[in-house]
Amino acid sequence: MKIVRTITELRNQLRGQLRTSFVPTMGNLHQGHLSLMRIAAQHGDPVVASIFVNRLQFAPNEDFDQYPRTLKADAEKLEAEGVYVLFAPDEKELYPEPQEFRVHPPEDLGDILEGEFRPGFFVGVTTVVLKLFQCVQPQVAVFGKKDYQQQMIVRRMCQQFALPTQIISAETVRDTDGLALSSRNGYLNEAERNEAPWLHKTLQSLRSRVISGRATQSLSPAEVLEMENAACGALRHRRWVPDYVSVRKRANLKPASASELRAQEPLVIVAAARLGQTRLIDNLEV
Ligand code: PAF
Repeated sequence: MKIVRTITELRNQLRGQLRTSFVPTMGNLHQGHLSLMRIAAQHGDPVVASIFVNRLQFAPNEDFDQYPRTLKADAEKLEAEGVYVLFAPDEKELYPEPQEFRVHPPEDLGDILEGEFRPGFFVGVTTVVLKLFQCVQPQVAVFGKKDYQQQMIVRRMCQQFALPTQIISAETVRDTDGLALSSRNGYLNEAERNEAPWLHKTLQSLRSRVISGRATQSLSPAEVLEMENAACGALRHRRWVPDYVSVRKRANLKPASASELRAQEPLVIVAAARLGQTRLIDNLEV
């Protein structure tokens, strides 16, 4: 595996490649990331991964400085997965001057849920993803469904800018106790790690309630809201601080109307909650 630090080197390595498959990451790789590499290998060749902790997507009060940087261990894992090139630019390479041109996702998708609680987050994500796509020029790029809203927004960006990159969404990889794998799980102390699977359990029980409600053909948006509030209450009772637990349409992440609930509109339950100092996100398709 070649580790390249500059855009020029990257372009030289990939010259003539037409079926490049790409997985952008911020490093501190776990099995979830490695599963994305395997999926990338099924959809193209060569596989390129990037590691870049993108300052633009962190708010001033967030964990940019603290975010784990583990390049050597990450490179070993990627090499073992058969990744062809690891693009690991430093900040000066990707942002040699302030990034004044930025991508602004539409407010109704980019400023809700994660975007509401992390203002500017999706501007940062889409700006760096567009820039990385320009560097790598992939035919295919793989994103995890764990960041459900992110993969939707990136797909929409590709459609709207007619980018020639197909976005593949990969299922969330979970630990045996149900906790979705995430680099931020490393921030949890032992007691928090034991508690953390409750987020997934809460989503599972909310999903069961939604499915039972829908079976009666009479589930209303007000009842869904009541179920969401109950799920937040259950988390608070266990000392979590939820930002949101919300049942949304998979198509556009808006709440479903009564007729859409009756018509079996595909739904997803998305959630973000803080456990101690660590903010975890998760989701479940219904
Ligand atoms: O999901 C991530 O790790 C990041 O948001 C991404 C897509 C690599 C952009 O920095």
